[in-house]
Amino acid sequence: MEKTLVILKPSAILRGFAGEVIRRFEQKGLMIIGMKMMTLSDEILAEHYSHLVDKPFFPLLRRSMQLSPVVVMCVKGLEAVEVVRKMTGATKGRKADIGTIRGDLCMSGQHNIVHASDSVENAEIEIRRFFKPEEIFDYKSPLTFMLYADDEI
Ligand code: TYD
Repeated sequence: MEKTLVILKPSAILRGFAGEVIRRFEQKGLMIIGMKMMTLSDEILAEHYSHLVDKPFFPLLRRSMQLSPVVVMCVKGLEAVEVVRKMTGATKGRKADIGTIRGDLCMSGQHNIVHASDSVENAEIEIRRFFKPEEIFDYKSPLTFMLYADDEI
């Protein structure tokens, strides 16, 4: 099964939406296999957003990610990377489809509640960036037989 990385951004923490976002992933049937609170240093943000460091909005983005601690999560499921991206919605909250996390909970393109890995390859890199191996708990759920058919897993 795939693993993906989610960050509950300061916009989620400060607006009190951590529980709402976590509930959505649990309700979908994704397993939380890693979760912790941390503050994001300039260094880790420059690495995490390396594709954006040269953009004029990068200093504002960095500041938005340092307004409070964040919660980083590793979630697991069949095709979890795609599922979580779909649940997250488009970057700009005001353009994101209603029903998605961003579409339901925010207007902004920067204070947009969650980060979610955009590919399987990046998910592996990002999980390694934010979690030590011993912080990932790859346990079995007794409900797997209800979440997936035998020929799906
Ligand atoms: P990006 O990786 O393009 O989007 P996504 O988070 O949907 O994968 O951008 C990363 C974050 O950078 C985005 O969530 C919010 C911020 N950002 C801005 O602040 N302004 C912008 O114009 C863009 C494109 C992104």
